[in-house]
Amino acid sequence: MSADRKIKKIGVLTSGGDAPGMNAAIRAVVRSGLSQGIQVVGIERGYAGLLNEEIHEMKSSDVSDIIQRGGTILYTARCMEFMTEEGQAEGAEICRKHGIDGIVVIGGDGSYRGAGKLAMHGINTIGVPGTIDLDIASTEYSIGFDTAVNTAMEAIDKIRDTSSSHERCSVIEVMGRSAGYIAICCGIATGSDDILLPENYDGNEQAIIDHVLNNRKVGKKHHLIINAEGIGHSATLAKHIEEATGVESRATILGYLQRGGSPSCRDRFLASLMGSAAVDLLLKGKSNRVVGLKSGKVVDYDLDEALKMEKTIPNDWIRISQLLLRR
Ligand code: ADP
Ligand code: F6P
Repeated sequence: MSADRKIKKIGVLTSGGDAPGMNAAIRAVVRSGLSQGIQVVGIERGYAGLLNEEIHEMKSSDVSDIIQRGGTILYTARCMEFMTEEGQAEGAEICRKHGIDGIVVIGGDGSYRGAGKLAMHGINTIGVPGTIDLDIASTEYSIGFDTAVNTAMEAIDKIRDTSSSHERCSVIEVMGRSAGYIAICCGIATGSDDILLPENYDGNEQAIIDHVLNNRKVGKKHHLIINAEGIGHSATLAKHIEEATGVESRATILGYLQRGGSPSCRDRFLASLMGSAAVDLLLKGKSNRVVGLKSGKVVDYDLDEALKMEKTIPNDWIRISQLLLRR
């Protein structure tokens, strides 16, 4: 799909779960647009703010001092109304009313779907991957993942200290409703004993219990289990382990602390590249596309093709997570 007229004004919005680095992406869109002579407006609260016309002009100074801040200065939301054909048509009409020729949507797959609907209604849209979950198939990287896994890793290291001191088993729940990327990455990086992923967990608690008992036999002082949010029931699992093994067990749910905090260098850097790339695509007359990272380079794909792509956690990561355990 190509734009059929010159781009004079673009909008930027953040949608779905927030992610550290979204501000760096907003800054890149605003500054890259202004530097190339187009007007930029910020749309607050994702598609909900679009429908409520929460739209305001962005000057260069409006994105000063935000590159280091977590969250999103444009706020974010989930919007049921935009899931309807009427909502989408109204969103496009509001864009026309405000003279918005193109929108950069920073978010996950759901937000991409919304962008696709706007494109169908004649608004040029480009998606930028923003989610800590790393579960967008069309990109090797999504803004927020690096900060989130570093935050989680530091928290897990702290739990490890107390877990070792008390010779306990710890079940630590990390975010990831349907994807285990945070869990596998943090699990490997903290040398955890078991990593439970929504992608392959078979519910076999006995195998975990046997592993805890075996680790005691080889003299391990703690037993760390990283459990993805999508599996959940961390407290119940800890209770079952304690009952079956006699090893004191505790559950910790890391929760929303993983979504906050100052973005890492990697998140700021890639958000800056991807936000700028999105503006370049709009200026080239492209629409209905998404930006992604492939082999270290920023690339773009047709949005519909991107949504059809699939990705899974590499088997090698799972194999290595087990290979490196003490025996
Ligand atoms: P994410 O972008 O992180 O995957 P969601 O799945 O919650 O987050 O989607 C964010 C928002 O995008 C939704 O609240 C809705 O407004 C919009 N959206 C999601 N799916 C669609 C769809 N199929 N059509 C139109 N809008 C959608
Ligand atoms: O940002 C992604 C994510 O953290 C998922 O892992 C999680 O399931 C979801 O967002 C929860 O977000 P909320 O509670 O805001 O709906």
